[in-house]
Amino acid sequence: MKSSKKKAIVVGSSTGIGRALAKKLSAEGYLVALTGRSLERLQELQKELPGESLAREIDVRDTREAIHNFRNLIMALHDLDLMVINAGVLFQNEPLQWNLEEEMIKVNALGFAAVANVAADYFLQKGAGCIVGISSVAAHRGSGRSPAYNASKAFVSNYMEGLRQKFSNTAIQVVDIRPGFVDTEMVRGRKGLFGIISPEKAAEDIYEAVRKGKRIAYVPSWWGIVMWLLRQVPESVYHWGYRRYLSWDKKKPATLP
Ligand SMILES: NC(=O)c1ccc[n+]([C@@H]2O[C@H](COP(=O)([O-])OP(=O)(O)OC[C@H]3O[C@@H](n4cnc5c(N)ncnc54)[C@H](OP(=O)(O)O)[C@@H]3O)[C@@H](O)[C@H]2O)c1
Repeated sequence: MKSSKKKAIVVGSSTGIGRALAKKLSAEGYLVALTGRSLERLQELQKELPGESLAREIDVRDTREAIHNFRNLIMALHDLDLMVINAGVLFQNEPLQWNLEEEMIKVNALGFAAVANVAADYFLQKGAGCIVGISSVAAHRGSGRSPAYNASKAFVSNYMEGLRQKFSNTAIQVVDIRPGFVDTEMVRGRKGLFGIISPEKAAEDIYEAVRKGKRIAYVPSWWGIVMWLLRQVPESVYHWGYRRYLSWDKKKPATLP
């Protein structure tokens, strides 16, 4: 797609944060390529975008296939300036079912690294570009309810630190986005989502972080202080607090007779 516009791929743009960010980038003048598992939903989104766009069905779980498809997508775009790796899944997995743990690792960690690899490769040849990874505040500590989710986000943040080190003397930017609670399908129905923000507000903050050339951005920024404090808490105290939070979150909301 020959165009003088800046070009972005948003991986996982059919719903939630990815969808809002695709709209924001389009409104800011980017030619946006949308990817996810549902072409139908991506095509619906295309109709809402103010600017030019492409839509491709790409499942990041099959990493070989995904790498091939993302390379082709960059060729179809004729260039790339920004790769946003947003695809993610979260399952509350207290019984620790392996299929759910595996799915989170496949999408959030393996899928992330595969797409980051394609972007890194392309930007190294080009000499410039920006990789944005959507991690989470969950990257900082473990979770008994969803061990693979928090561990996968720790992987994402750590991987990006590695990429920043690798690209330190280049014009390649790597931005680690760590949202708190965002009102999307991923967390809907849960209790205790303090400080929750809309996907649109998250998209605004993410866009600003990229524009300002940040390395790491908490969304909203006050989560940076909360997570700094939480990191200082000894593990025994953290486990005690987390168990109390879980037992409270499990309680059914009161219903009228
Ligand atoms: N919501 C929160 O409170 C919160 C907080 C911190 C971090 N995050 C992170 O933010 C990112 C976006 O989450 P969200 O809250 O916007 O949730 P969401 O609405 O469920 O969006 C998840 C996106 O990932 C895509 N996706 C899932 N599996 C995929 C696969 N195998 N291949 C390709 N795409 C896939 C989905 O598209 P399809 O289903 O169409 O494939 C969808 O576009 C995730 O990485 C999440 O971990 C969210």
